[in-house]
Amino acid sequence: MDIYVDSANLNEIYQAKELGLADGVTTNPTLIAKENGNFEEILKNICSEVTGPVHAEVLSLDSDGIVKEGRELAKIADNIVIKIPMLHDGLKAVRILNAEGIKTNVTLVFSAGQAILAAKAGATYVCPFLGRLDDICHDGLELLSSIRTIFVNNPDLECQIIAASIRTPAHVVELASMGVDILTVPSKLLTQLEKHPLTDLGIEQFCKDAEKFKNL
Ligand code: G3P
Repeated sequence: MDIYVDSANLNEIYQAKELGLADGVTTNPTLIAKENGNFEEILKNICSEVTGPVHAEVLSLDSDGIVKEGRELAKIADNIVIKIPMLHDGLKAVRILNAEGIKTNVTLVFSAGQAILAAKAGATYVCPFLGRLDDICHDGLELLSSIRTIFVNNPDLECQIIAASIRTPAHVVELASMGVDILTVPSKLLTQLEKHPLTDLGIEQFCKDAEKFKNL
């Protein structure tokens, strides 16, 4: 199981990397807009920080524009993956870029049908968004499970799942139990996963008890 950092912030990526939690990085226009600097420069810096895949999203919505942008972004570094929104034109672009050996990730996937189309178009990765489905009272984990079953039962669909829009530690545990290929996790959630009140209480107690023999 790979864990990616869902961030465009170099400091967050570096901190995750120190713990072996940066097998890759996913970005999107919203995450990049939070950082200072230009789009390409930010991506270039991330690519030099991690050796795994760095997912960079196109802004165009028509196939010609997506292909053109995808080719340009792919020149930034060898580990760039082109993230493309789930659109009719997006799928056309995936086929073209895939034929050129450029890796793609179809993002904003909210149904198993969309995941099948993305895999058939030749997407290297498909990115279902759990949290945003949960937000509208649908079961995000159920979608992940359904896509996973389809890909396991159809090994000709050579597409990896990146579970995205992960909001809670429980999501992470459920997805790991399910055996999802890749989880992309915001850095705040990595910190939440570290913490447990009983760990804090236990440390506090050990430190208190250690005072007794420190001065002996
Ligand atoms: O990778 C996609 C992710 O950034 C979306 O997360 O929390 O905005 O739904 P969220």
